[in-house]
Amino acid sequence: MPKAELHIHLEGSIPTATLLNLAGKYDVDLPRPAERLYEFDGLKSFLAFLDWICGLIRSDDDLEGIAYEFARTMSEQRVAYAEVIVNPSHWRKHWTVDRLAASIVSGFERAAGEGLADCRLLLSILRTQSGEDAETLVDWMIANRNPRIVGLSIDGNEQAAGRTGTRFAQAFAKAKAAGIATTAHAGESSGPEGVRDALDLLRVNRIDHGVRAAEDPELLARLAREGIALNVCLTSNLVLLYPSIDLHPLRKLLEAGVRVTVNTDDPALLDVTQGSEWAKVASLCEWTRRDAAAAARRAIDAAFCDEGRKRELH
Ligand code: ADE
Ligand code: ZN
Repeated sequence: MPKAELHIHLEGSIPTATLLNLAGKYDVDLPRPAERLYEFDGLKSFLAFLDWICGLIRSDDDLEGIAYEFARTMSEQRVAYAEVIVNPSHWRKHWTVDRLAASIVSGFERAAGEGLADCRLLLSILRTQSGEDAETLVDWMIANRNPRIVGLSIDGNEQAAGRTGTRFAQAFAKAKAAGIATTAHAGESSGPEGVRDALDLLRVNRIDHGVRAAEDPELLARLAREGIALNVCLTSNLVLLYPSIDLHPLRKLLEAGVRVTVNTDDPALLDVTQGSEWAKVASLCEWTRRDAAAAARRAIDAAFCDEGRKRELH
């Protein structure tokens, strides 16, 4: 069955060869020797590395090509539909939101025209940004509607910023009122309270990660009851959050009836593919083919495209 990927960052999906090429082209030093490029000690250094990556990408053609190649890789992984998070704050050194979105959409359009994966954009705010920054991005989205830009996201380090639900509530309310779908990274670097804030203050349609909701049985029951999808990234959590797979609550989430989807977060940095991630999840959860097909359907149902497109994907 073709898969949908709902939680993947463009910044963390660019192949190493492309990064090294660009570093050479623009004469940029690597932050570490190439063989240790993907060594991180936690989310903070991981996010700083995304800034470095985006600083390497400068021309419209470079970025259009990266977006196109992204779609090709999705197709090779049998991903028919992807919603791709792009956070303009990582790109601020060389890119306005206008140019950034135009180049990515252009690469996605060219790929779709050739029958490659259908890729859409989620524009994202960093948790450490201000409420005004978030509103500026939402205003841009309202003024620049495009069928390939399907939603608003928030990512980054929830702890570095403290509890920020109220800071971003107004921007998310504005997006919702304008019919823009929303998602939030929560319950990764925050505990269950971060997931609650995303639901109650940001009023999001779905949650990225959300795994730490498993620490609160009442919240788990609520997620199941309200049918909120959690876009879980197992390998990412094992690198950045849980020291052992035995501590990961994936089975607990599924047993509670939560709508869990399978995703890769930052595949190039984490050395995963959709194929390897699905195999790892299937093995951990002892999935049959039927269980895997049900998970693939859950992702399509949770997507932000229109109902007609969902029917085609099913
Ligand atoms: N941006 C890219 N990957 C992320 C993650 N795992 N958590 C928060 N922000 C991110
Ligand atoms: Zn993420």
